[in-house]
Amino acid sequence: MVTYVDAASAPLKNDGSIRLYDAEAFERMRQICQITAACLDGLADIIKPGVTTEAVDRFVLEFGLDHGVVPATLGYRGYKYSSCTSINHVVCHGMPNAKPLKEGDIVNVDVTYVLDGWHGDSSRMYPVSEIKRAAERLLEVTYESLLRGIAVVKPGARTGAIGEAIQTYAESERCSVVRDFCGHGVGRLFHDTPNILHYGHAGEGPELKEGMIFTIEPMLNIGKPHVKVLNDGWTAVTRDRSLSAQYEHCVGVTKDGCEVFTLSPGGHDRPGLPDLNA
Ligand code: MF3
Ligand code: CO
Ligand code: CO
Repeated sequence: MVTYVDAASAPLKNDGSIRLYDAEAFERMRQICQITAACLDGLADIIKPGVTTEAVDRFVLEFGLDHGVVPATLGYRGYKYSSCTSINHVVCHGMPNAKPLKEGDIVNVDVTYVLDGWHGDSSRMYPVSEIKRAAERLLEVTYESLLRGIAVVKPGARTGAIGEAIQTYAESERCSVVRDFCGHGVGRLFHDTPNILHYGHAGEGPELKEGMIFTIEPMLNIGKPHVKVLNDGWTAVTRDRSLSAQYEHCVGVTKDGCEVFTLSPGGHDRPGLPDLNA
């Protein structure tokens, strides 16, 4: 059984019910998500061979402070960084470090900023200079799978429709979908109900309603879907060490579809790949 609650009157904890947000909340999400997207736009000029992920993380912190927002990951469950930086076979939650990026790497940078308790969570892949065709294809398929998930969001559909759209497309392109991590409700909480699986069937999961806000953040691998978490307790890698990619948007369900809050203000949602609206 799923219950739905008005976001404004709901307690600020995840009690299993799915919050429904009003027009004012959508406006707050637009604001914070556009700051996150602008940061991700700025990273495109920073990320090149020789740059460390520590420097990337510093940019994310400083960009946030310059814009009056704070990274939600700083101190989150003991996490100590302003971003996650996941390179090549790292699936997600890679921790920034002093190792320089090198030509051919693909790196995901995942940023969540908070403003007055509102969370804007988004990530993109950045090719480091020239990358192999197989890597570029993985990025293209992963972003397209996110768009296909977004395309089925509307009131009356179930969360499983998102998973089915992503999985069907990804597997038709011979990529696998990671099962161990999912999208999540977002807004007044960083990680809220519902879980948004990136695989499954359209008939599964709670029904989408106008006012729900959540992330969609598929992780696709070139090889098998299986993941392990390293001894640092955070870094998730593919078991077969195959390349992995992820893009993430925050969306809000509208009367007849959804609004994507984290779209790039400059149209650079897929850095290093051709702009889709060009
Ligand atoms: N931003 C990630 C997500 O998309 C969560 C990162 S939590 C951290 O949900 F602690 F690893 F930073
Ligand atoms: Co997220
Ligand atoms: Co994220």
